[in-house]
Amino acid sequence: MKKAFLICFVLLSFAPLNAFAQKVGGGDLTFTPKNAHSVVFSHQIHVTVKGLKCSGCHYQVFQMTKGSYKMDMSKMTKGDFCGKCHNGQKSFDVKDPKNCDKCHK
Ligand code: HEC
Ligand code: HEC
Ligand code: HEC
Repeated sequence: MKKAFLICFVLLSFAPLNAFAQKVGGGDLTFTPKNAHSVVFSHQIHVTVKGLKCSGCHYQVFQMTKGSYKMDMSKMTKGDFCGKCHNGQKSFDVKDPKNCDKCHK
């Protein structure tokens, strides 16, 4: 009996740690365009830190598979994909040369 309590206690105290270790949504996704530095999209920043809902992006803007769309800047500057929010209103503008390296690193 005492042992059972102990096991419960141990499991409960680790539960928050497990929740923390679990990746958010699709995790970090790295895109590697040919003629630009790579771009890391962080689900954690968008969902946990910025409070965006899954349905804000899935399936209106993106499918739930990496590489489901061929993204390129000419579409993004017209408001598609990342440019749906990164337009200078909801978030920093994809068209502003000062912002390129916020995504391309
Ligand atoms: C700000 C936009 C955004 C939000 C919010 C978002 N996602 Fe995503 N998600 C993406 C993008 C971008 C991709 C990649 C799509 C592509 O490459 O075509 C993706 C891909 C995925 C993938 C596939 C990953 C892979 O490796 O193939 C899963 C699973 C996923 N998302 C789950 C979620 C879940 C669950 C939530 C809510 C907790 C969520 N997403 C919220 C943008 C978002
Ligand atoms: C909100 C994030 C973001 C910002 C800001 C951004 N990009 Fe991109 N860029 C991307 C993503 C995502 C891709 C597509 C990667 C892939 O799928 O291969 C891309 C692709 C590219 C490509 C590959 C060819 C093409 O036309 O798509 C070039 C070149 C590029 N970006 C240049 C720029 C320049 C220059 C700026 C600043 C004026 C900029 N990017 C700002 C996210 C961004
Ligand atoms: C549904 C809206 C939405 C979409 C779609 C979206 N973002 Fe964002 N993103 C945001 C918001 C909101 C922030 C927080 C902006 C701020 O604090 O100025 C953000 C912040 C970021 C940041 C800065 C993270 C940091 O370190 O603070 C990067 C990089 C980024 N987004 C890349 C991307 C890329 C790449 C895509 C496309 C694959 C994308 N985002 C699509 C809403 C979006």
